[in-house]
Amino acid sequence: MDIGIDKIGFYTPKKYIDIVELAKARKVDPDKFTIGIGQSKQAVPLEYQDSVTMAAEAADQIISKDDNIGLVIVGTESSVDESKAVATFLVDLLDLPENIRSFEIKEACYGATAGLKMAEGFVALNPDKKALVIASDIARYGINTPGEVTQGAGAVAMLVSQDPKILKFDHEEVYMTKNVGDFWRPTFSKTAFARGKFSNQIYVEFFSELWKKYQNDFNQSVDDFDTMLFHVPYTKMGMKALKTLKDQIDPDKFDSLSKNYQSSVQMGREVGNLYTGSLYLALISYLINGDPKDNEKILLFSYGSGAVGELYSATIQPEFKNNLDSEKIKKVLKNREKISISEYENIFNESPANGYITRDTDVLDKFYLREIKESERLYKKMDH
Ligand code: HMG
Repeated sequence: MDIGIDKIGFYTPKKYIDIVELAKARKVDPDKFTIGIGQSKQAVPLEYQDSVTMAAEAADQIISKDDNIGLVIVGTESSVDESKAVATFLVDLLDLPENIRSFEIKEACYGATAGLKMAEGFVALNPDKKALVIASDIARYGINTPGEVTQGAGAVAMLVSQDPKILKFDHEEVYMTKNVGDFWRPTFSKTAFARGKFSNQIYVEFFSELWKKYQNDFNQSVDDFDTMLFHVPYTKMGMKALKTLKDQIDPDKFDSLSKNYQSSVQMGREVGNLYTGSLYLALISYLINGDPKDNEKILLFSYGSGAVGELYSATIQPEFKNNLDSEKIKKVLKNREKISISEYENIFNESPANGYITRDTDVLDKFYLREIKESERLYKKMDH
């Protein structure tokens, strides 16, 4: 049975900062941020937004009443509760039926890939049902930290089913786990801790090791792929991994892989790190901005600090254009407003407490955190 991604939706907040303005405010050469790191804009979530509201926004774009959803998994490392899962809040917001399994999954940026692999197993056992897998995160390192330029926010929702119309999983996958201290966020902290350069090194080492294993296990080489998609914490990062192949392959092949890589990071450059969603935003970006072929076999590298990595192949389905609303997705990026660095700093330093979070008239989105009452988060859907 063919199983994979049937529909895919993307959401990012409606405000952003300009990376050149951020560089100037931090007294850094803008080229470092735009070329050395490779970012141009960074999404700024508003006070009424979190992993729940962004997950709802992304999923709302792709689900309908007729989908026989039996499983909802949210991959996130920006959880709002130590006990209740983001997925559980979504049942009300998205009018999901009660006869579903719903839970949250965490392993840094690997969470969504873990969710997709579980969803694949679920659909294999329940072919008439679909699974909703959502990656939703806010990447926060702190004002004036080295990681600040790699912050971002957003969500990617994917509906997994049999006979998928966008991407079929090929069952060719290799994975590995090592206990590494490259990046972590203790429960007491709202911002992540990172050993930045070490994390880059581990990311590349994981890719190299998994690529060797993949070639070995499946008797394939770089000639089997025109496109490799990467987890994109910032757009220069995947390129560092891709460059490890440069000396081993024909220069034309490296150029074509690099060209496809650039189209896959076009959208990530505009929003920043989505953590769990970044690899899947790269997929969307390649499908919209690249030149994907029908039945093209692509390789996906998922990496979550801590660390878990997975390299797997999948095949682009010929009907993908009819099932991917490119115009709607492009609008998500286009219909945003730039805010100043000081406005961003004020929003960043806000800490929602008990009480009303925002006036309903100030809400720019469909789903929002309306109130915190007795420390319980109460969400609302805008009725329009
Ligand atoms: P940094 O120390 O500020 O930057 O931190 P740098 O000094 O390493 O410079 C960055 C690049 O800019 C370098 O290029 C410089 O040469 C270049 P590279 O050597 O990397 O090719 N540069 C310039 N280029 C043009 N003009 C200039 C100029 N000046 C310098 N004038 C770092 C950078 C990414 C480490 C930092 O932002 C950070 O710590 N970020 C957070 C951690 C991170 O994103 N790690 C990525 C791998 S781990 C991962 O992907 C998992 C993650 O998503 C978390 C999860 O799984 O949940 C993070």
